[in-house]
Amino acid sequence: MTRVVIPGTFDPITSGHLDIITRAAQIFDEVIVGVAASRAKHPLFDLEKRTEFVKQATQSLPNVQAKAFDGLLVDFVQEVEATVVVKGLRAITDFEYEFQQSALNGQLNNKIETMFIMSPPQYMFLSSSIVREIASLHGDFSEFVPSCVEEALLREFEGK
Ligand code: COA
Repeated sequence: MTRVVIPGTFDPITSGHLDIITRAAQIFDEVIVGVAASRAKHPLFDLEKRTEFVKQATQSLPNVQAKAFDGLLVDFVQEVEATVVVKGLRAITDFEYEFQQSALNGQLNNKIETMFIMSPPQYMFLSSSIVREIASLHGDFSEFVPSCVEEALLREFEGK
C-alpha cells in the first residue's frame, strides 16, 4: 500500500491543486494533503480554515485526507507513515525550486521519495496568490477555485 503526502500552504486550495490531488488519488492508495503552517508567508486564511477548505473540496475522494502540520515536511511525512511526497509541476520555472526542495528533503530523510505530476495547460499559470489578487480586485475567479473557497473569498473582500 502506498500512502503519499501532497504538501502546500493552500492559501487557498485552487482547482490546480485539486487536479493534482484527484490524479494522485487515482494512482496511489492513500493521499494525505499536508497543509503547512507557512508562517513566513503570512497566509490570508488561518491554518484551521485552510485545512477545512481542503477537507470540503476533497470530500468526494474517499482515499484523501487533509491534515495540518507545523514543522518540517519530512517529519510530517514520517509521522503519518507515508513514503512519497507528490507535488504538481506547472511551468518550467517551478522546476529549480522543486528540485532544490526535493533534494533537501531527500538529504534530511533518504527514505522519502518525491514524485511530480504535471499540471494540465489550463492550470499552468494558476497560483493561490493570483486567485487572492483577482478576488481582492473583485474579478471573476470562480473557475479557479472550489465553491467553498469562492464563498470565503467573496466574504473576505466584500466591501473592501
Ligand atoms: N496548481 C495551482 N497552484 C499551484 C500548484 C498547482 N498544481 N502547485 C503549486 N501551486 C502554487 C501554490 O499555490 C503557491 O502559490 P502562492 O505562492 O501564490 O501561494 C506556489 O505555487 C508555490 O507552491 P509550493 O511550492 O507548493 O509552495 P507552498 O507555499 O504552497 O508549499 C511547502 C511549500 C509547504 C511544501 C514547503 O514550504 C514545506 O515543505 N514547508 C515545510 C517546512 C520544511 O520542511 N521546509 C524545508 C523544505 S526543504
